[in-house]
Amino acid sequence: MGCGNTTSTGTKDGVTEKARVTFVLGGPGCGKGTQCSLMVERDDFVHLSAGDLLREEQATDSKDSKLIKDYIKEGKIVPVEITCNLILKAMQKKGMSKKFLIDGFPRNEDNLQGWNKVMNKHANVVQVVFFELSEDIMLERIMKRAETSGRADDNKEAAEKRFNTFKNETMKVIKHFEGKKMVHKVDATGGIEDVYENLKDGLIV
Ligand code: C5P
Ligand code: MG
Repeated sequence: MGCGNTTSTGTKDGVTEKARVTFVLGGPGCGKGTQCSLMVERDDFVHLSAGDLLREEQATDSKDSKLIKDYIKEGKIVPVEITCNLILKAMQKKGMSKKFLIDGFPRNEDNLQGWNKVMNKHANVVQVVFFELSEDIMLERIMKRAETSGRADDNKEAAEKRFNTFKNETMKVIKHFEGKKMVHKVDATGGIEDVYENLKDGLIV
């Protein structure tokens, strides 16, 4: 396991700087992307969405395109070598001294181990934001998004698969970080500004 072999980190006065990372997790359709956009505008974060990076990679016709497409359609988690490599490259492009929101990652044990193996020397994880929302509302939001997103997995059938992946795999990662007292749990039920208020209360910026 592992991802990429690039070694560049930010430097300041000759001292190597590590990226400051906030993981952003929650079930599909819970509003991760929406809230990340607000944190970019208001709190000076740089936002990287693992799902967006995978969709971009899929669209380039690279050697991993077909695999990514198949995994996304099934709501399964792509092997970390692919995802982590895309994240690292994107972080390096932005400059490693930034504070990053990494949205939709780590989604399972494989993601977490791959990150630890390759990224611990490049980045410090400072907190994990967990948006909590009922499946009913997540499905409502996904079906609303489906009207414009064009995403192959924004439909009821794929959403059910993604809910299962979330419950069976991602919740374990959240529990792991809860054990380390790193999780900031946010009620994602209300409107965009209500959720942002809940988020700000306890967010490390
Ligand atoms: O986060 P988002 O809902 O955009 O993710 C869409 C899909 O991308 C996931 O259901 C999964 O198939 C894939 N993905 C992944 N590994 C991640 C993040 C997303 O395989 N860490
Ligand atoms: Mg998203």
